[in-house]
Amino acid sequence: MSHEHTEPTMSDDRPTVPGANADAMSSGASALPPMVDGTEWSRRDLLRLGGVGALMAAAGSLTGCKTRLIHLDERETLPLTGAPLAGPRPSGAFRLVHFTDIHIKPEHNAEQGTRTALRHVRQTAPDAQLLITGGDLLMDAMDQTKERTSEYWSIFQRVLKDEWKGPVEHCIGNHDIWGWGKEKSKTTGSEPLWGKKWWMQMVNKQRTYGSFDQGPWHIVILDSVQPYLDGYQGGLDEEQFAWLENDLANVAPGRFTLIVSHIPILSMGMIDCDARKPPEPGPRREGFHIGIGAIMMDAHRLLRLFQKHPHVKACLSGHIHIVEHLRYLGIDFFCSGAVCGMWWRDFAANREFMTKRHRQGDVPVELRPARADPGYAVVDLHPDGRVTSVYHTFAWTPSK
Ligand SMILES: [Fe+2]
Repeated sequence: MSHEHTEPTMSDDRPTVPGANADAMSSGASALPPMVDGTEWSRRDLLRLGGVGALMAAAGSLTGCKTRLIHLDERETLPLTGAPLAGPRPSGAFRLVHFTDIHIKPEHNAEQGTRTALRHVRQTAPDAQLLITGGDLLMDAMDQTKERTSEYWSIFQRVLKDEWKGPVEHCIGNHDIWGWGKEKSKTTGSEPLWGKKWWMQMVNKQRTYGSFDQGPWHIVILDSVQPYLDGYQGGLDEEQFAWLENDLANVAPGRFTLIVSHIPILSMGMIDCDARKPPEPGPRREGFHIGIGAIMMDAHRLLRLFQKHPHVKACLSGHIHIVEHLRYLGIDFFCSGAVCGMWWRDFAANREFMTKRHRQGDVPVELRPARADPGYAVVDLHPDGRVTSVYHTFAWTPSK
């Protein structure tokens, strides 16, 4: 499965090399900072996983997600059930749907799955005021040819046009960037739509990041994907970071801020789902290793910046296909699972992929949680600065 999932060390599926800053269209890409991607836990599961397992379970219950371990003897995909209605929008709240990691492709019923998900949104949260796509609209454009990427966009555009009539804002993801893997994509880098330009054209944006106000809220959408070798790493380039510093400094008093990025600024779930053994342990064996695409490599400077601006209340992300809620430094960090779940595939296919990428000494696959069931988050921005998020699965049986 070529790149059904890819890049292991990267967190989500990533295809190519390990690896991701980009510029915003309008900007000249500046240099990236040097290296800077009904909880059903059994008591036995939690004991096996210790504190991390308990935290994951707690995070899941907070957000209404279902988390489960992959059982190697599980032959059938567990049934997925739709969540109940989101309930009416709270008084004075702005309600958005965080619809992330769609991974459109011609295979595995992805088009029908996305249509089903959007219809489910319309039924579950008919009073949603905005749909935010959290990145990875496509399945791995980074390593795909022009023809296949064009096919992805055709499917995505027709589904969105047919199934969603309301306002939409887009956030770019690593899979939406065309051709950074030059060898596999057969690109040279000089094509007019190469890199982030195709995404910008398709979503009609002049830049890959920006912000806007909505009632008492200020919403920032970041471009968290930066180039690294022929792949990517998580972070902001210098130009975008300077823009963010200025943007946050100019938020009107009394407003609250929501930050949206594809790659999480922080994630505890990456440790549980994805941390690997160091390739060559030395005399002092190093600890958890997660890839440079798993979370933002410049998380520290982002957190220091947020600490200067107490109006920053919450961060939304996708990318890792995990439902997670962390609260750190007074900020809520939500990761909203994935519309495609495990890339529109079932447990068996995911297990096969995960097993292939594991090295000797890694925590076995059967002790890792599965990624999220296919779903999306209904997020309420309350007038008092609180943010609440509930993950809704929709009835969908993934392909083999
Ligand atoms: Fe993804």
